[in-house]
Amino acid sequence: MKTIIEPFRIKSVEPIRMTSVEQRRQILRDTHYNLFAVRSQDVLIDLLTDSGTSAMSSEQWAAIMRGDESYAGSPSFERFEAAVRELMPFKHVIPTHQGRAAEAILFSIVGGAGKKIPSNTHFDTTRGNIEATGAQAVDLLIEEGKDPSNLHPFKGNLDLDKLEAFLAANAASVPCVMITVTNNAGGGQPVSLANIQAVSEIARRYGKPFFIDGCRFAENAWFIKVREPGQASRSIPDIVREMFAVADGMTMSAKKDAFANIGGWLAVNDDELARTAKNRLILTEGFTSYGGLAGRDLEAIAQGLKEVVDEDYLQYRVRANTYIGERLTAGGVPIVLPVGGHAVFIDAGALLAHIPALQYPGQALAVALYEAGGIRSCEIGSVMFGRQPDGSEKPAAMELVRLAIPRRVYTQSHADYLIEVILEVAGRKQSLDGMRIEWEPKSLRHFTARFTRT
Ligand SMILES: Cc1ncc(COP(=O)(O)O)c(C=O)c1O
Repeated sequence: MKTIIEPFRIKSVEPIRMTSVEQRRQILRDTHYNLFAVRSQDVLIDLLTDSGTSAMSSEQWAAIMRGDESYAGSPSFERFEAAVRELMPFKHVIPTHQGRAAEAILFSIVGGAGKKIPSNTHFDTTRGNIEATGAQAVDLLIEEGKDPSNLHPFKGNLDLDKLEAFLAANAASVPCVMITVTNNAGGGQPVSLANIQAVSEIARRYGKPFFIDGCRFAENAWFIKVREPGQASRSIPDIVREMFAVADGMTMSAKKDAFANIGGWLAVNDDELARTAKNRLILTEGFTSYGGLAGRDLEAIAQGLKEVVDEDYLQYRVRANTYIGERLTAGGVPIVLPVGGHAVFIDAGALLAHIPALQYPGQALAVALYEAGGIRSCEIGSVMFGRQPDGSEKPAAMELVRLAIPRRVYTQSHADYLIEVILEVAGRKQSLDGMRIEWEPKSLRHFTARFTRT
């Protein structure tokens, strides 16, 4: 059989409230064309993020009932710790309420003024937590990763020559080397096993600990299995273990590849670093056996980690996104290629070439998709990145619209509906106008800015 079906049945459903184009026009006027202000009940297909939006399995819900809420010594922590160490055999596993809390603890210890931390591309919370300590976050992605149409199989790879040169020039100010798998900020593109190992080797040679931001480790491992020579016959858990075997620690948001709605962890091998991190954890998150989580959350993560490395799931996951990408490409809609692990990115700058960057073609497209079909997506372009620290405005490197796909939530007919809406909007692209910002806050304007049509 060649059809790859959703490898699950639906036991519990969440109704979608249907709305008309007229109703959505009114909602857009009421929310000043900012999709973050739209109520989720007014959205048909919500592709704002893949973070914390997964559907949990019946086994995860059953595990939640087993959650032991004792302050200390809870068996839920033991099950959580064992599930993490089964895949990522670090000595110390420190639970946190989400990924950025793990980052905040790590960088409050290793960061600080004058420090420089290289990575393929730091995710924005990682960058924010590094910069909050006065340190500098440095992106050293391969050039292919910056070209939306380049078909390189591992566009998330870190540029080894740049890393070598960076360390040679800055060794004294580098406390650690990082890599993000998959590279979210670069379109969910994977990192090869060979690249992870080579980065680790270079870091080791300079005596620097190597950390992995592992949010989408399972999707990354799937890409290694199907794209990297010599990996096809290996199991996903084996590949995952090898990815993390060469690292000294990791940060994790369990809201992605652990199918949990909340949670994360920091894991390290170094005893001294672990001791300091646990002290910070107790100050800011909670005791070492629960972090900022309930026992039931730890159980959901432990079970989710067993499910996310299932090959039938990963094959379906990546295929479902690729299917959307293929149909859009066939319909003439420019997207970032190849399709990454958790999202499809539409190149709004290319699709709406008649709208100047500072009239926000990404926002115009995101608004049009909501109006036409109740699809909620996210502009990743000049609205998000255009405002400069000196108050000026300049176009972002790309004008993208991200369709982040929640895990195990939507079906094939939802995907077909999504494609239909996008192709319908693309078919009348000349009729779309740009947007103007009427009001914006001092920082992170995309969350609350108010727009009008030009
Ligand atoms: C690559 C990456 N790192 C870190 C984070 C932060 O995780 P959290 O949202 O759980 O704080 C995210 C969240 O989107 C992410 O994608």
